[in-house]
Amino acid sequence: MEEEQGSHVPPLSSGKSSLQGLDIAHAFFKPLLQSAPPSSTKRHTKVSVIGAGNVGMAIAQTILTQDLTDELALVDAKPEKLRGEMLDLQHAAAFLPRTRILASVDYSVTTGSDLCIVTAGARQIPGESRLNLVQRNVALFSDIVPRLASHSPDSILLIVSNPVDVLTYVAWKLSGFPSNRVIGSGTNLDSSRFRFLIADHLDVNAQDVQAYIVGEHGDSSVALWSSISVGGVPVLSFLEKKEIAYEKEALERIHKAVIGSAYEVIRLKGYTSWAIGYSVASLARSLLRDQRRIHPVSVLAKGFYGMDAGEVFLSLPAQLGRGGVLAVTHVHLTDEEAERLRDSANAILEVQNQLHLGGGGGGGGV
Ligand SMILES: NC(=O)c1ccc[n+]([C@@H]2O[C@H](COP(=O)([O-])OP(=O)(O)OC[C@H]3O[C@@H](n4cnc5c(N)ncnc54)[C@H](O)[C@@H]3O)[C@@H](O)[C@H]2O)c1
Repeated sequence: MEEEQGSHVPPLSSGKSSLQGLDIAHAFFKPLLQSAPPSSTKRHTKVSVIGAGNVGMAIAQTILTQDLTDELALVDAKPEKLRGEMLDLQHAAAFLPRTRILASVDYSVTTGSDLCIVTAGARQIPGESRLNLVQRNVALFSDIVPRLASHSPDSILLIVSNPVDVLTYVAWKLSGFPSNRVIGSGTNLDSSRFRFLIADHLDVNAQDVQAYIVGEHGDSSVALWSSISVGGVPVLSFLEKKEIAYEKEALERIHKAVIGSAYEVIRLKGYTSWAIGYSVASLARSLLRDQRRIHPVSVLAKGFYGMDAGEVFLSLPAQLGRGGVLAVTHVHLTDEEAERLRDSANAILEVQNQLHLGGGGGGGGV
């Protein structure tokens, strides 16, 4: 158990600066006359990242460079690696916005977080089935999620570990949190890859391309071709109106390239990190700063687009703000897109129904 390991490890970060019993801060600065303690309206933001691997550290460093939090807590099962990562980030203090960086194998370091981002995950053992890997990650989440929930009962949980849709459902069950406070990073990254490829194709800025991939973060994801627009112009209906021929296969090739993107990066460099770092930081900004931006993220999808078969989390364009998921947008789907989305839901449910969830609170067991 992390707490037991933590008790043998000295605290990784000391809070106060003191030298030979001298309180430097008080010696160095002189308070104003007739001043008062800090106002109760002062807001302090805290983010915790669980899992200090490639993905967790890319997220942590992007959040730091974008000045999204006052305090950042890192948790991992490996104390040495964790301390190394914490020190390495702390040593950049002269180049970064001021952020208190803490790290511990003990979950008490996450206490009072506004946002808990979970990237911890077991890696696939050669020859291991996908289901077995999922079951091992469920066991890992049974350890992590209840601790996070008890130290930060009002936080938003943002799940990144794969398979992200199933694990977001698992985190929801284990945390006992309302559904609007449990979110999976889902297809936010896939949609960015999609926008990049379309922008590249049309030689425009990806930020001017509105395009969503929804459904499962994975092979059964659904590209919403019917709602793509560039600079406010709906692409498919424009092409049809102008009678410009396009091949459906060309569109499918772009979607296939999106699905293959992660596999390609992993084949080439061993893991993915930078894009997921930026993707999750964009979600953190919308949540913590109440931006009310729309992101395709994994949410409780039951009841949307005829997905009534079970409690499934998958990505839909959702409005994010300080309360978590504020709403899901009424994006128009063609019959074919809606059908594919329901297939995606069924693929996730099939895995989910084979899982054994032990313990936890949540909205009931499976
Ligand atoms: N959702 C997405 O879009 C997306 C994108 C990229 C990666 N991922 C997923 O993110 C996860 C992490 O990937 P990575 O490349 O960083 O892997 P990694 O192996 O580099 O890091 C995982 C970290 O988790 C830690 N860990 C393991 N068990 C733990 C526990 N019980 N408590 C705390 N920490 C624990 C490990 O020590 C390790 O540092 C994977 O599941 C990966 O598939 C998701």
